[in-house]
Amino acid sequence: MSFFLRTARLGFRHWSEGDLPLALALWTDPAVMAHMGGPMLPEAAEARFRLEMANQQTYGIQYWPIFHLRTGEHAGCAGLRPFHAKTDVLEVGVHIARPFWSGRFGEEAARAVITLGFHHGAKALVAGHGPNNINSRALIERLGFRFTHEESWGLQQILHPYYRLEVNIEK
Ligand SMILES: CC(C)(COP(=O)(O)OP(=O)(O)OC[C@H]1O[C@@H](n2cnc3c(N)ncnc32)[C@H](O)[C@@H]1OP(=O)(O)O)[C@@H](O)C(=O)NCCC(=O)NCCS
Repeated sequence: MSFFLRTARLGFRHWSEGDLPLALALWTDPAVMAHMGGPMLPEAAEARFRLEMANQQTYGIQYWPIFHLRTGEHAGCAGLRPFHAKTDVLEVGVHIARPFWSGRFGEEAARAVITLGFHHGAKALVAGHGPNNINSRALIERLGFRFTHEESWGLQQILHPYYRLEVNIEK
């Protein structure tokens, strides 16, 4: 597989047309989506897949699909998107497939995504989580993000805490 980025255990590439089954499996999984509005219907998952591909075309970023380097298995996705339509503030997201939970794959992917985000020119990165997603909260805090505010999220407009990581301009 042609990865544009590798970490110790993961390879990042871009979504392409043939990946739809991988995207559907990830985003229709009730466990993966438990804190993100529940499992998507297949139509919604396909729409998200197409949005990610459009974001790559428009902004040069997406929630990239990630793969376990040793086995080649799809491990989920991790990446960036404009935050509130701003391109200098990017939202970081990580969706790890169930077989890869508990191995800190989310953290490994997120650290690579943060580096990419700042190289991309972002002045700040943000991340949010569902109110009961303690694992996501723990990850966001381990990564050094600081709480900023809560805002309504998703179709049900549930309040999600949001966090921010600024570029360190001190050399
Ligand atoms: C939350 C997440 C990003 C954390 O990644 P990480 O910091 O690398 O942590 P790990 O994958 O090692 O998981 C940490 C713990 O969370 C658990 N966990 C992860 N996602 C879970 C979920 N949706 N429901 C229940 N438990 C979950 C893992 O089993 C693990 O438990 P353990 O430490 O007792 O073994 C990642 O597990 C994930 O993508 N989960 C599903 C999607 C999600 O919620 N993304 C965040 C959106 S804001």
